[in-house]
Parts: sequence; C-alpha cells; structure tokens
Amino acid sequence: MNDIAQLARQFQAVVGPEGVVTGDALAERSAHAWHPEPLLAKILVRPNNVQSLADVVRICHANKQPVVTHGGLTGLVRGTESGPADVIISLEKLDAIEAIDPVGRTITVQAGAVLENVQAAVAEHQLQLGLDLGARGSCSIGGNISTNAGGLSVLRHGMTREQVLGLEAVLADGTIVSSMNTLIKNNTGIDLKQLFIGTEGTLGVVTRAVLKLRPATPHSRTLLAACERFDQVSGLLAHLDASLNGSLSAYEVLWNEFYQLNTDPQYEGHVEAPLSRDFPLYVIAEASSASLEALEQQFDKAAEQSMERGLIVDAVLPQSEAERLRIWRLRENVDTQRLHTPGFTYDVSLPIAAMPDYLHAVESRLKERWPELTFYVYGHLADGNLHLFAAPFAIGTQPPAGTDIDAWHRECSDIVYAPLQAIGGSISAEHGIGLSKKRWLSLSRSPQELDLMRRLKATLDPEQLLNRGLIV
Ligand code: LAC
Ligand code: ZN
Repeated sequence: MNDIAQLARQFQAVVGPEGVVTGDALAERSAHAWHPEPLLAKILVRPNNVQSLADVVRICHANKQPVVTHGGLTGLVRGTESGPADVIISLEKLDAIEAIDPVGRTITVQAGAVLENVQAAVAEHQLQLGLDLGARGSCSIGGNISTNAGGLSVLRHGMTREQVLGLEAVLADGTIVSSMNTLIKNNTGIDLKQLFIGTEGTLGVVTRAVLKLRPATPHSRTLLAACERFDQVSGLLAHLDASLNGSLSAYEVLWNEFYQLNTDPQYEGHVEAPLSRDFPLYVIAEASSASLEALEQQFDKAAEQSMERGLIVDAVLPQSEAERLRIWRLRENVDTQRLHTPGFTYDVSLPIAAMPDYLHAVESRLKERWPELTFYVYGHLADGNLHLFAAPFAIGTQPPAGTDIDAWHRECSDIVYAPLQAIGGSISAEHGIGLSKKRWLSLSRSPQELDLMRRLKATLDPEQLLNRGLIV
C-alpha cells in the first residue's frame, strides 16, 4: 500500500491529482471495451501531454515498475490485460487533433484520438484516412498503430502501417523519440517508426503520429451477391478488381452459417435477409469514388457482367444509404456469435486459392472433436484474411459442468493453426499476437525471427517494463 501511495504521489506531481486513478475509481473502470471485467492495476495514470507521459514512464523506469498501455481497449488478443502489480498508462487525455495539412495531405494527431473523430475531422477537408474498422467509435489511433490494425479498407489502402508517415514514441526509459516526418519520401537511414508499428507497445509507447490522407471518395456503390461455389467468389473478385479502375474498396465474404445467424429474427440486432438464406456464400463488394456518375455506370455494368458470366447467382444493389448500411450490418455484427458459450474466435490469413481445402480440413477435424459444432467463417477475403468462430455447442446449450474451457480453446486453436504453416498462412492476419497467440507464434515465424524480436526487446526495454509478456 505504501508503495502505491508513494508512486501515486510521484505521478501526481507530474500529471496532477485528476491524472491519477486508484482504489474504487480504478476498480470501476472496465478492462475491455466490450467485456465488463473490472480493471486490475496498482494505479492508472492519464497524462494530458507527451512530456508528462514521458515523465511518468521515467518514474516507472526508476522504480522498475511494469507498465501496460491502454488505448480504446478494443483489441482481441489480450494485449491490454493487466494485473494488480501493473501501472496502466491510458492515452485517453492525449486525444488532440493537432493539425491538418490539406495541401500535403497529412494529419497530425495524438495517440489517444478516437479513429472515428479523426475520420470526421479529415472529411471536412474532402479528404479521408486509409483506415476504417468496425471498432472505429472506440479504438484509438495509437492502438491502431501499435497493433498495425487492418480492417475494411486494406484492399485499397493497405494496413495501418501504410498510413503512417511520422511517429513519436516514448521509450522504456522515458526518452521521447520524435520522428514526426510529413514527407512521402524520406530515405534517411533506418525507418525508426517501424519499431513501434505493430509491435504492440512492447518497444515504446506511441504518443503522436502523422498520417497520410487521400482524396475523399464519398460516393459508393455496394453489391450483396450470392454464390454457389468458391471459384465464383474468387472469380468475382478478379472480375470486379479488373473492371472498376482501382475503385474497389471492400470485398467481404460471409459463409452461410454466419449469414444465417445475422439474419435470424430471434436475435437482437439481426437484419432482415436481403437475399435467400440458403446460398453457401455471400459477397459484399463496394467501390467508392469522388464522382458518382462514372462510378454508377462502371459498377452497375460490372455487376451485370458478373451475372452474365455466371459468377453470381443472385444479387441486390442497395438503393439508399439506409439499405447500404443494412447490408454492412450483416457483416459488421460480430456480437450474435458470442451468444455461444464457449466460442473461440480466430483471425488467420492464407492464399485465397488454399481457402476451400483449408476450411474443409479444419471444419472436419473440429466436428470429429465436437460433433455439435457450429463453424462461422467470414472476413476480408481480398486480403486473404478470414475470421473463424468455432462454437462447440448451439446457442443456449452449455458444456458439461467441470469442462476445462481453456483446454478446449487450446485444442481448438491447435486444429485451426496446424495446417497454416505448410500453406504459407499466418496465425494472425490483423489482430496481433498479444498474450492469446504466443503459444503458436513459431508456426508463423522462424527461430531466427523470434530471436531477433527478443534481441530488439532486450535492447530497447532490458528491464521488460513495457507491456510485459506480449508477443515473445
Ligand atoms: C472484423 C474484426 C473481428 O473484421 O476483425 O469484424
Ligand atoms: Zn477483421
């Protein structure tokens, strides 16, 4: 307790009393945006400028105090989990949008800025960010960067890494390294920002960033299509990509079980099925552009050709923004599947051509193990990225009392991950490693790669103070 009081006093001297949260106020906070588990930590500190954040890290370093960094808490791999011995640094008060340069097409933001707020700010300048994901209303730019988030526009703009021009981070000893580059081209030695992108806060705390902007493409055309076979899904992707002059911005695929679930009237948040619920596969394809007329012509023609060429068997083109959003809810609603207890969720990537065999093999093995299993598959197909959700029992049915759910989860993961190595797949496409996937990282990374990761960690954070235990 003394230790807590003494540390809290040191933090207060830097961030003021309102910047330090302890006791009941701390316990009342949630450990995750979507699960209500209470937060465990010694102290939570919320600095409101970079210098005070660096001072807080310096105090932790002097006290050999482990630190966990918090952004919007929407991660899916237990990357922000803390224990009673940790100090949490929350970026929630470092959320300013510092500058927008409409000519150079850049935005400078603090790491705690919420993605949706940044999107809205740049839209006022007829610009857009090349980053969008379902968690946009809660996730923060710093979290997007530290996890190299993927999401819904990777096909057109790449992952978060591709959006970052400049970056500032605080190292484990409190040093501020500012590389707030705004240039597109800058080959002046080692690109240091890459140390902090996708490294899950293990090598430094991301505090500010310069992001690349692109001309806004406010007009979009969307297609919900049904396919009978997987080769139609891959053929449709090739056809649309080739016909749409670079404007294809999303290509999401839903396998039947997932579509059925999200169109099932008995569940809250369901969408009335726009197409029959009996097709094996559904595609949501979207193109966006600055000019509506050209887009409409091109898109509607490409859709018509898809039908003529037998790439799709049924389709709807939404006629209003409300209809378009309804189609997207079919895909973005990832809550209903969580009514299964337990349910195990995955984020894998693999060559598109290998998907049918991979899914068949995994589903057969899972059903041998759990005959009642429901297997949901959906995801960012054009990026080679699938999300899988394996539920051993139907919604409402519980596993036998005394079941070791963690052991089931490991068993399920072994089955899902095992085939990936041989086909050049990855155990994490866009969600990262965190604590959840460490055990399987060697399926996707060589011993030499893992060793280099450990050497980088040992160099930049020899005391293992930042986000201890993540990744390796
Ligand atoms: C999605 C999240 C789960 O794509 O990555 O819905
Ligand atoms: Zn995803």
